[in-house]
Amino acid sequence: MTGQGPLNIDTSRPHPARTYDWFLGGKDNYPVDEELGRKMLALEPRVQVLARVNRAFMHRATRWLAENGVRQFLDIGAGIPTEPNLHQIAQRVVPEARVVYCDNDPIVLAHAAALLRGTPEGVTEYVQGDVRDPGSIMEAARKVLDFNEPVALSLVALLHFVTDEDGAHELVERLMSELPAGSHLVLSHATADFTPETAKEATATYKAGGITLALRSRDEVARFFENLELVEPGVSQVTDWHPELGEPVPGQDDDVVPGYAAVGRKL
Ligand SMILES: C[S@@+](CC[C@H](N)C(=O)[O-])C[C@H]1O[C@@H](n2cnc3c(N)ncnc32)[C@H](O)[C@@H]1O
Repeated sequence: MTGQGPLNIDTSRPHPARTYDWFLGGKDNYPVDEELGRKMLALEPRVQVLARVNRAFMHRATRWLAENGVRQFLDIGAGIPTEPNLHQIAQRVVPEARVVYCDNDPIVLAHAAALLRGTPEGVTEYVQGDVRDPGSIMEAARKVLDFNEPVALSLVALLHFVTDEDGAHELVERLMSELPAGSHLVLSHATADFTPETAKEATATYKAGGITLALRSRDEVARFFENLELVEPGVSQVTDWHPELGEPVPGQDDDVVPGYAAVGRKL
């Protein structure tokens, strides 16, 4: 593990990682996170289903990548460990797969040992870092991953926390520019395209909790893949990305899923 320091867990305001943990039924959250979670639940009664739907996409995409020859994964915005974690899925297919996890939330660092459980040293690593500082992340990731070989860059449910002012598209371009041909970009992203009123209220609710959401349209999400070859079926609703590779999440088909997912390949 790199970047270890004194834990600095701020329980005075909600955090995205801990609120998402609450949606998933985890125990690594605080009353402020639950409060935001419950406000979201009042707005969108399916929010817990949607979190599981997102997680299920990560499972399918990781399996697809491992089955299609990817041996290295860089997962930024990894989140609080929730089994199965990305390395467990990848290493079930490719036991020697290398995985670097990264998150900017100190609570993820606090639980990083669980993320690394069951893997030989040096194969799975955790790096504390912020996607807005790609140079530091890539420097640390290079110690585990071979950047001469393809890497899957996983930004699952991360970029709606990164604004245009922070340069979300440029950051992704910068990260992908350091990876060789054959690398992949994997992302899922919340959108206001399907439920604009709920999305507006959700954005205001997060904002009141001190978290800025950057919901993006289909075109804006597609722009992350501008210089990449999209894997079929392209930018799709999260549940429509290779549903045959996993089991449906109970309740996922009851209503619209307001998020996109896609995988693209660097040529
Ligand atoms: C909704 S969770 C997604 C977790 C996991 N990727 C998944 O999809 O199951 C978003 C994660 O992104 C992290 N995050 C938010 N902004 C970040 C940033 N600027 N740099 C790194 N991680 C960030 C949060 O701490 C949180 O763990």
